[in-house]
Amino acid sequence: MDISHGHEGSRYRARASSELISSDDMIYVAGHRGMVGSAVWRRLAAQGFDRLIGATSSELDLRRAEAVEEFFAANKPDVVVLAAAKVGGILANATYPADFLSDNLRIQLNVMDAALRHGVRRLLFLGSSCIYPKHAPQPIPESALLTGPLEQTNDGYAIAKIAGIMQVQAIRRQHNVPWISAMPTNLYGPGDNFDLKFSHVLPAMLRKFHDAKVEARHNVTLWGSGTPRREFLHVDDLAAASVFLLQHYNEAEHINIGSGVDVAISDLAGEVRDAVGYDGHIDWDVTMPDGTPRKLLDVSRLTGMGWKPEISLGDGVAATYRWFLDHPEARRG
Ligand SMILES: NC(=O)c1ccc[n+]([C@@H]2O[C@H](COP(=O)([O-])OP(=O)(O)OC[C@H]3O[C@@H](n4cnc5c(N)ncnc54)[C@H](OP(=O)(O)O)[C@@H]3O)[C@@H](O)[C@H]2O)c1
Repeated sequence: MDISHGHEGSRYRARASSELISSDDMIYVAGHRGMVGSAVWRRLAAQGFDRLIGATSSELDLRRAEAVEEFFAANKPDVVVLAAAKVGGILANATYPADFLSDNLRIQLNVMDAALRHGVRRLLFLGSSCIYPKHAPQPIPESALLTGPLEQTNDGYAIAKIAGIMQVQAIRRQHNVPWISAMPTNLYGPGDNFDLKFSHVLPAMLRKFHDAKVEARHNVTLWGSGTPRREFLHVDDLAAASVFLLQHYNEAEHINIGSGVDVAISDLAGEVRDAVGYDGHIDWDVTMPDGTPRKLLDVSRLTGMGWKPEISLGDGVAATYRWFLDHPEARRG
């Protein structure tokens, strides 16, 4: 278990009434070794929130209600960032829909139930832009949730995440606590999963170009047609937005977090190929599913609050490739 102790003190220490979180708070980052959780942990620490706590899935399996209850009873966090989830790309979701549905429902229910019982004052739940309807209007406003059929390749994951957002809203209504949900777009960055089969599109591309460069191959085959458009946000920007929302956002509706810009997958491939320094040819395997044709979030509510991302796609991809080179253990399969 990881604990970052700043100053000790009562969890009921007085705080200014306008303050939604304070540096005195004990903050439990669930999933603190994952891509998102580790970025949130780094960002919280950098902003002076130094009473942080986290446990790995082997120390605390969040699917086990009793273990979660014991953890909350023992540690009594004031604030929870729920960044633990079973996460994967199209193939993983399509192959294991029951696991994505069941594991994520259990993790959310156990954490939120225990958080409620143990007086957690503030909680941030993370959804995902892929849970909006397949043919949602573009850019996708928050109000598009539950207005149409889902993308079938990840419907198990989506139903679980939608249930999590509804759970936060129901708990707010019934218990009058300032818990919130956010809806991040596609993320990438340090800590990503670079597995060739089960990862998301950007890290999968990076890995394929890297392997082809190292093996001096002339062609790389990428999945799909290259025409779908997607939005990407560096995970450090997501972490900055998450801390910003913990400090400033207190509404029942989930709030989108994105860069506000989308790119064709074929253009993204060009960016990644340049960052890796691969000069071979790209073939598109059109027998693989494309998924939703376009996905761009309407981020006007977040930008209207005064937040905007700082890391461009080019800089972010280059930094991610440097991280990948420094962390060979991230090449899981
Ligand atoms: N990646 C994206 O593009 C993206 C986009 C939008 C939203 N999100 C959301 O962001 C959150 C985190 O995603 P991520 O990309 O950071 O995923 P990740 O890198 O796979 O990390 C997931 C984390 O969840 C933990 N976890 C999984 N199952 C667990 C269990 N049964 N018990 C305890 N911990 C468990 C893992 O812990 P261990 O490492 O200890 O096993 C890991 O730290 C998810 O809610 C996801 O929906 C991600």
